[in-house]
Amino acid sequence: MSDETLSNLLTENRTFAPPADLAADANVKADAYAAAAADHEGFWAEQAGRLDWAEPFTQVLDDTAAPFYKWFVGGKLNVAHNCVDRHVAAGRGDQVAIHFVGEPGDTRSITYSDLKDEVSRAANAIEELGIVAGDRVAIYMPMIPEAVVAMLACARVGATHTVVFGGFSADALASRIEDCNAKLVITADGGYRRGAPSALKPAVDAALEKIDNATTAIVENVLVVRRTGQDVAWNTDVDVWWHEVVDESSTDHRAQAFDAEHPLFVMYSSGTTGKPKGILHTTAGYLVGTAYTHHAVFDLKPETDVYWCTADVGWITGHSYIVYGPLANGVTQVLYEGTPDTPHKGRWWEIIQDYKVTLFYTAPTAIRTFMKWGRSIPDEYDLSSLRLLGSVGEPINPEAYMWYREVIGGDRCPIVDTWWQTETGMMMISPLPGVTAGKPGSAMTALPGVGADVVSEDGVPVPNGSGGYLVLTKPWPSMLRTLLGDDERFVDTYWSKYKEQGWYFAGDGAKKDDDGAIWLLGRVDDVMNVSGHRLSTTEIESALVSHPRVAEAAVVGAADETTGQAVVAYVILREGASAGATGEELVQELRNHVAKEIGAIAKPRSIMLVPELPKTRSGKIMRRLLKDVAENRTVGDTTTLADAGVMALIAEGQKTSTED
Ligand code: WT7
Repeated sequence: MSDETLSNLLTENRTFAPPADLAADANVKADAYAAAAADHEGFWAEQAGRLDWAEPFTQVLDDTAAPFYKWFVGGKLNVAHNCVDRHVAAGRGDQVAIHFVGEPGDTRSITYSDLKDEVSRAANAIEELGIVAGDRVAIYMPMIPEAVVAMLACARVGATHTVVFGGFSADALASRIEDCNAKLVITADGGYRRGAPSALKPAVDAALEKIDNATTAIVENVLVVRRTGQDVAWNTDVDVWWHEVVDESSTDHRAQAFDAEHPLFVMYSSGTTGKPKGILHTTAGYLVGTAYTHHAVFDLKPETDVYWCTADVGWITGHSYIVYGPLANGVTQVLYEGTPDTPHKGRWWEIIQDYKVTLFYTAPTAIRTFMKWGRSIPDEYDLSSLRLLGSVGEPINPEAYMWYREVIGGDRCPIVDTWWQTETGMMMISPLPGVTAGKPGSAMTALPGVGADVVSEDGVPVPNGSGGYLVLTKPWPSMLRTLLGDDERFVDTYWSKYKEQGWYFAGDGAKKDDDGAIWLLGRVDDVMNVSGHRLSTTEIESALVSHPRVAEAAVVGAADETTGQAVVAYVILREGASAGATGEELVQELRNHVAKEIGAIAKPRSIMLVPELPKTRSGKIMRRLLKDVAENRTVGDTTTLADAGVMALIAEGQKTSTED
């Protein structure tokens, strides 16, 4: 992290105290910090009391095989029962669970009773298709209620789901299906994006072809929701319509209780090598952690609040803060299918106005986009129902924070800037809205029951006013349990850097300000963050190199006003492979190639064709130098380069290409 960033952030000294009425009535008050610090396990045991247990646990935390921790040992529960049935049993069946807003304008309000019926039907249907506890199910769907129902149906029968973001390509889907051995794929014909139907089923067909499902028969069935009504190719051996089997199934389904450590889901996330990591979350600890943090950080009052998290269910934010945490807490929430600018750029604000949303959770990249579109758009809507705003995915720069606060929050709503990861499962560092005086740009301090610190390379906590690596110093209930099929990589990636101390290494740089508040400074490894989505340099480089014309590629994340970071690639072409497109045309071809291999999110903002890449004598590409060029800085120390002249060439090339 450059000193420039540090000193920039240090000049930020505005603070915003919690609104008095929110503070007075807050779900969680200041005493929670001390209570949790005094008795870590006791604190989490108390939070476990938020759930319905079929069998109580006998031990809060088993750390004998650390870092393979176990939480709530001996306890049993059913996640779907906790997220749905028990609210009906408590007499809240008529409360709306989900206000669905389709992109074309169709709407559906689903009560907890409706949800219970639908999840039970889906559970019966997938059992009928042969799914039993322990099986894996891949879910590849648009943002429609059936996506939530599919996840809960899996949880209900003890099948482990892996939700693959609908924007990912057939190749990405295939590798995930293969890696987790999914027996069933749940998908839809398509969804609505940017005003038009966007197909999903063909990508599933292509994925199955890619894994040669005809021979391997990993996937026994594909369950297809009809959403858009577009034509789909049909393989009668495996394909089944959702409306034919789910709608016909019984609404009676007995939910069996599963062990606290039963695998709930796998979420794939980019690592520093090309192969995505299958992050495994389990049953009870995950639900306790997400339910508690959702209650504490959003101050949810389930009878009166209307909550809206704009994330996709294909990301961890959708899992933890659309599906599991909020539904465990009996929320009423909005679920929106489409994009923020369809059919007009005020769509989100219109939804907030129409549904009187009180709690709103989105990402800095979205906020920066709205800033670019101008405040006159949100200013046309009545946003006075809002009482709290959340941010997640990357550091929110003070400018975006202030805009969010003033333009969307009317200067009255506190902002909770929540730091967490796919691995942590739940929010870890965040203000408590009724307690913390927030500073624009800081996630502030660890939540009650969470231990976080900023330490030096050698594991010494840095003093206030300095920077270092972010570590988590205590186990927490919703922590990842391992990487699917790769315990060694799990230990290496997260637990080996500070092995002696037993700390979790988060991979983020951070600093403590003079008051000890934490400021996140981005990833320290070769992982970048584009619009709140983690992408690995290596993964995109492998995609580029898989193109026949490319010999070598280096990818960096360059600061970008809108997306946080943007993918910038430097590519060496194969000699002699001169047939085909050249120049700008080839660059477009390569960008599209990456989109096809990984997904549109990974498409490079720019690609520069270069004769050489900066490498150390041992052959390691020095991405930090390319990053300097990509961010228009003077190129840093080149003394470890094998050929110092390379950078001058690239820098010169970049200058001419941006001048064009
Ligand atoms: C990485 C985790 C958490 C769900 C979405 C992303 C960055 C996340 C913040 C924040 C600064 C943040 C970190 C983290 N990040 N939230 N509030 N402030 N940085 O999940 O894909 O697992 O990425 O996102 O760098 O390590 P993910």
